[in-house]
Amino acid sequence: MTSRFTIFFTASILLFAAGAHAEEHKMHLDDLAVPISDMTVVDQGRGIFSEKCSACHGGEAVGTGRAPCLSCGKFMFRGNTNSEIFETIYSGTPRTGSRGGKMGAFSSVLSDAEIVSLVTYLRATEKARIAAGEIDDPAAANQDAMVFPD
Ligand code: HEC
Repeated sequence: MTSRFTIFFTASILLFAAGAHAEEHKMHLDDLAVPISDMTVVDQGRGIFSEKCSACHGGEAVGTGRAPCLSCGKFMFRGNTNSEIFETIYSGTPRTGSRGGKMGAFSSVLSDAEIVSLVTYLRATEKARIAAGEIDDPAAANQDAMVFPD
């Protein structure tokens, strides 16, 4: 975890503790909270995603042949917590063993708040897809592989 992230992470916990009313998403108690019902944040994330991410990860983050689905309830590179997804966007996907190495770091082009808006957008999209019955709930799903649709 980078120090810039640690500072932001702590600030966001204090912000939420101070009584923001938006619905939060967390994978566990200490996870970075993202405000998935705050449409301003979700829409900001959607805009950045379509500009910087969808060429590889597809519209609605459903994945393409070159990059995995990010709205399927599965995040395998670092892990499936909001903090780990933040870290993956921040630092990229350095090659580890047989995987990774294809996505650069976004820490120099996106602010921490912009990265949080991306995580928020991805979680809001995932939640909508769970509600629509398109994907399994990640809490129940088998977390075994990245998804690369054809
Ligand atoms: C040049 C293509 C490309 C672009 C642009 C790109 N990615 Fe990726 N991304 C990948 C690939 C490929 C992987 C799979 C890991 C690997 O092979 O390096 C990946 C992996 C990821 C993962 C980890 C998935 C998992 O299962 O844990 C996240 C999160 C992610 N990308 C988010 C983003 C976001 C957000 C953006 C836009 C800011 C973005 N990516 C832009 C190609 C891209």
